[in-house]
Amino acid sequence: DIKDIQDVRNLMRTVPDFPIKGIPFLDILPIFQNPKAVDFIINCIVDHINSTKEKIDVVVGLEARGFLFGPIVALRLNAAFVPARKKGKLPGNTINVEYQKEYGVDIFEMQEDAIKQDQNVIVIDDLMATGGTAEAAGKLVKKLGGKVLEYVFLVELAVFDGYKKVDAPVYSVLKY
Ligand code: PRP
Ligand code: MG
Repeated sequence: DIKDIQDVRNLMRTVPDFPIKGIPFLDILPIFQNPKAVDFIINCIVDHINSTKEKIDVVVGLEARGFLFGPIVALRLNAAFVPARKKGKLPGNTINVEYQKEYGVDIFEMQEDAIKQDQNVIVIDDLMATGGTAEAAGKLVKKLGGKVLEYVFLVELAVFDGYKKVDAPVYSVLKY
């Protein structure tokens, strides 16, 4: 049974040397084997956003693991869900931005008409390390005229100070 956030934390595991040597990879997927744990996390996030009293128009989820949380949170907030995808996956007109990650370089894209001028947006992903991924998503939202009110994560790896890279408050369910 899931009584508190510690029970959620206990479901995660660290896998050494993944995806490359020297990286201790935090595997969050076991959480999804436990619907009560998923419910607990989503409630934390939704309660937090509701406590800000802001109306969220769009939840932007970051490929790939942001897609595990984004649509559920969007449904609960009665908001749109918009994916930021890795290069070359989205049809039609897109905008993109290159970014540096904990390991390597990548490109994010969003569909040009996915966000309207002045919409309130939250960006959601499974984990923040350096903050480079979240920062890139924030740039895309801004280019489309949206306003990021908050960056939301299941896990924040505190040693990286990733919150310094982004231009809005960070909410994380768990810190490591
Ligand atoms: C991981 C994680 C975040 C990002 C965090 O994704 O899911 O998106 O790294 O790192 P950062 O804060 O240093 O930018 P990854 O790029 O490994 O890919 P995936 O989500 O597509 O598996
Ligand atoms: Mg990711």
